Amino acid sequence: MRGGLSKTLALVGAAGLLAVSACGNSDDSGGSGSGSSANKDVTVFTWWADGGEKAGLDGLVSVFGTDCKDFKFVNSAVAGGAGSNAKQVLANDLQAGKPPSTFQAHAGAELKDYINAGQVDDISQLYKDFGLDKAFPQNLIDNLTVDGKIYSIPANVHRANVVWANPTVLKKASIDGTKAPASIDAWIADLTKLKAAGVTAPLALSKGFAQEMLVEAVLLAELGPDKFKGLWDGKTDWAGGDVTSALNKYKTLLTFSNTDREAIDWPDALGYVNTGKAGYTLMGDWVAAQQVADKIPDSAYTYWPSPGTEGDFQFLSDSFTLPTNGADPDGAKCWLKTVGSAEGQKAFNTKKGSIPARSDADPADYPKYQQGAMADWKSKTIVPSCAHGAACTLGQNNDILSAMSQFSGSPDVAKLQSALGTAMKTS
Ligand code: GAL
Repeated sequence: MRGGLSKTLALVGAAGLLAVSACGNSDDSGGSGSGSSANKDVTVFTWWADGGEKAGLDGLVSVFGTDCKDFKFVNSAVAGGAGSNAKQVLANDLQAGKPPSTFQAHAGAELKDYINAGQVDDISQLYKDFGLDKAFPQNLIDNLTVDGKIYSIPANVHRANVVWANPTVLKKASIDGTKAPASIDAWIADLTKLKAAGVTAPLALSKGFAQEMLVEAVLLAELGPDKFKGLWDGKTDWAGGDVTSALNKYKTLLTFSNTDREAIDWPDALGYVNTGKAGYTLMGDWVAAQQVADKIPDSAYTYWPSPGTEGDFQFLSDSFTLPTNGADPDGAKCWLKTVGSAEGQKAFNTKKGSIPARSDADPADYPKYQQGAMADWKSKTIVPSCAHGAACTLGQNNDILSAMSQFSGSPDVAKLQSALGTAMKTS
């Protein structure tokens, strides 16, 4: 697992680091701490720098300000969807022995990277101190546990397999925007109609993890949840004909996407949908929060599970850690208490598009999108996201991201299939 982090580091270009350090450490203090002396600062490292993501973080910060008056929140967010810049900066800081007070990590394989590298502390005792033992569903706690010890506190559950659509654009080809196409093939048929109706790039797509999410959604639809899970735990053969067929469909989907996909991030792709340039984008439900932040009225968009995945909830969960040898563990613990509290989860998730990780939340307190997601989380088949660390390590993700970007430039299905299989075997 150390390999994952050092590989991440190896990928950091000097230019990239310079670019992100300009956005990071913005000293956006939200705590109401009495003093601002260094040992009272709680540096919180995330990639929630803008829009709906920042609104969610602000919600958490406001509860922290009330509940942790002795401490001062210091915002160490580094912009870039899915931590595309942040994870590299974090790896650097951890290796240099300069951890933040707490950092965001995905429940699952990604968290295990940090645990196995000895970079986060066992916080099982905090679960007892804060009464969290029964607050979260057992399957989520299992994702945060190694050898019987729990290493982080989950803030939320997000759904990855969601398509966001512009019904006005879809009308141009007489497509009903309220209903998901039944399969990837049916979606391709609709995309073909849209193109014929003059929408030149009907599927808005952005760089990196968004492409990984789209390929995951196609694999989930085509293989079904059991075989899909097997791709990540070694039980499904990446070399299979069903994977080849799914990757060919992914290749076809790319032909409907914007040509600048390697140059834009997910909020830009969403913007293409909102402004009528595109009909659809596939993205996690942080989009629900972004639409609110961008003041897009509910009537201007629709959403549904990505085609062929109606019965599945592809999940990921953001959690917060207590880094080993962090500067102010007491402040960090107070942050963690806020993250796990009923009030903290409500303040965060009502703004973030996600649903609370706690099982005791009242759906009536949440916006319409989250009410539906809360019901689906209970009733659908749960499968993990690789792009957001539930199923894949940082090293595996980096290898998959390189394969996706190569494919985007020069789509060769055989090459992609073999690169994905190798990523899951070796990194
Ligand atoms: C995910 C993260 C989400 C959201 C998204 C887009 O990795 O878990 O909370 O921030 O990236 O940036």
